[in-house]
Amino acid sequence: MSYPYQIRSAEQYQAAYKKSVDHPEEFWSDVASHFQWRKPWDKVLEWDFKKPTIKWFSGAKLNITENCIDRHLEKLGNKPAIIWEPNDPEEYHRVLTYRELYNKVVQFANVLKNNGIRKGDRVCIYMGMVPELAIAVLACARIGAIHSVVFGGFSAQSIADRLQDAKAEFVITCDGAYRGNKEIPLKGVIDDALVQCPFVKRVIVLTRTRTAVSMIKGRDVWWEDEIKKVETQGNPDCAAEEMDAEDMLFILYTSGSTGKPKGVVHTCGGYMVYTNYSFVNVFQYQPGEVFFCTADIGWITGHSYIVYGPLSAGATSLLFEGVPTWPDAGRFWDVVDKHKVNTLYTAPTAIRSLMGFGLGPVEKHDLSSLKVLGTVGEPINEEAWHWYDEHIGKKKCPIVDTWWQTETGGILISNMAGITPGIPSFATLPLPGVQPILVDENGKEVEGNGVSGNLCIKFPWPGMLRTTYGDHERCRQNYFATYDNLYFTGDGCLRDENGNYRITGRVDDVLNVSGHRIGTAEVENAINMHTGVVESAVVGYPHDIKGQGIYAYVIYQGSSDHDDKLVRQDIAQTVARIIGAIAKPDKIQFVSGLPKTRSGKIMRRILRKIAEGETDKLGDTSTLLDPSVVEEIKNGKL
Ligand code: WT7
Repeated sequence: MSYPYQIRSAEQYQAAYKKSVDHPEEFWSDVASHFQWRKPWDKVLEWDFKKPTIKWFSGAKLNITENCIDRHLEKLGNKPAIIWEPNDPEEYHRVLTYRELYNKVVQFANVLKNNGIRKGDRVCIYMGMVPELAIAVLACARIGAIHSVVFGGFSAQSIADRLQDAKAEFVITCDGAYRGNKEIPLKGVIDDALVQCPFVKRVIVLTRTRTAVSMIKGRDVWWEDEIKKVETQGNPDCAAEEMDAEDMLFILYTSGSTGKPKGVVHTCGGYMVYTNYSFVNVFQYQPGEVFFCTADIGWITGHSYIVYGPLSAGATSLLFEGVPTWPDAGRFWDVVDKHKVNTLYTAPTAIRSLMGFGLGPVEKHDLSSLKVLGTVGEPINEEAWHWYDEHIGKKKCPIVDTWWQTETGGILISNMAGITPGIPSFATLPLPGVQPILVDENGKEVEGNGVSGNLCIKFPWPGMLRTTYGDHERCRQNYFATYDNLYFTGDGCLRDENGNYRITGRVDDVLNVSGHRIGTAEVENAINMHTGVVESAVVGYPHDIKGQGIYAYVIYQGSSDHDDKLVRQDIAQTVARIIGAIAKPDKIQFVSGLPKTRSGKIMRRILRKIAEGETDKLGDTSTLLDPSVVEEIKNGKL
């Protein structure tokens, strides 16, 4: 594989950037010409951010799996596509060559077909980080089914909400999953979810942990049995479904500032081009290298930089089942050493948590294979950046700080490893093809350098979301209605004297806890489901390891002799049940009232300041209905 669109110098970056702004259609058609299309496009781009409609490469036909697998078979057939490292280092790792991946994907694609799954059907995938997860994703794409992967940490209720929203009739899961010293009963969680989803026709269950599971006649089948059927049918192939560039590839749910999570929709052509383009450029991937993204495929980072980006580039992608701290805090470094990883892409929260274990776990391993480091998911603090640089990269590996979102499909703002300089805590510069703009509250552009504002993007890029599933108006409202003709990211940002971008965090009611996106409204709704809770308000506060922690103010009217500690536990448990353990509040403060304006709006600004411990900086409280509640909350204890 060669990548003619890989930018190799700062000068080339400048030239490519200019071209992408002056002649965007030509720029992107040049990039797209290096993929395999069944039929070329009629038009590179049609767009209108007001509606919004965004169409890239319309009229073109393709199947993304032909680009991720088939086209590599001739030259890379015997090269590793996926290296799988199990949770337990004592268990054998697995390597799937491109040829083996091909065989497994077409085989499982036939399983999907045998089970009545057709183009356009929605398939929910709820699995641990095993190679079969990537195989299931690709098999869906092969037959044109729309996958919706749900992270293995989400609760039965969250799965049910997503299944209902996506009207998904098919589920692929595992009996259980290993994560560190824990065993998660995935099929049991699915069973609980399906009580509310009688429309689900089929559940395909992979064996991983041999946890006892219930298998319902007529609904549940074993992955392994289904594979055997395909083998005896003796059809080793599965023609790839011909897809329109703008056909849906997948739905991925993510939290917003209001309501339930929304299903972000990505389409086949643009997403493929953009994930590959950004992968090859940001990480400066070279053929033969081993790329290790530590995210879970249940998040967009895993979709774009474990599966689609690397595989479409013919790369070797490492898929890790476990966690950074088990059996000990040297697990990442062990994986890097064992598989001679060249690029490590992880989250600041993981770096911060590993820093806490000192250098012992690092020094036990040879990290000399590393060439490039990356971070994603939240702003990286300087201390973590320097630790990563010194102790992991040994000051010889560029660190790419990659800013993007579920909605953007791929990295939008980042330095390019070794090509454009990195600056601690700055995402730095937009990729060619990306046109950021900062605006003030009124949507007026903040021009020049040394300024800050709300980060928007003013021109489409191929990887952007097209809609939110089943509710286009919500997509418009959320991203395109705040500022006229702009895509609004929800992030605050500053641009320094040299034009480098630094993301300062969300300006809406979305929290970023350990790199996971959680809506405050969602957590409040879950807390309010606890009997005895009258009302609650949730805000974020700075947390040393998680980046942000969840702080909940709760009005509780249980029995008068309740034990605060037990009630806190029960509230946390309620949230874990309704959303998942990742959304459990870190702190719960009982209050008798919440600071509200006369129109009944909670003044979160004040609650945030109190949670941050900045009680002397509350600002103007004169518009409050009852300023005395602020005094009470300030003096209250946790
Ligand atoms: C939000 C998107 C797609 C990446 C994984 C998270 C924050 C992401 C950075 C970064 C500062 C970052 C933003 C963004 N974020 N990367 N490099 N520096 N902040 O995807 O769950 O859709 O969350 O994560 O606030 O809006 P996500």
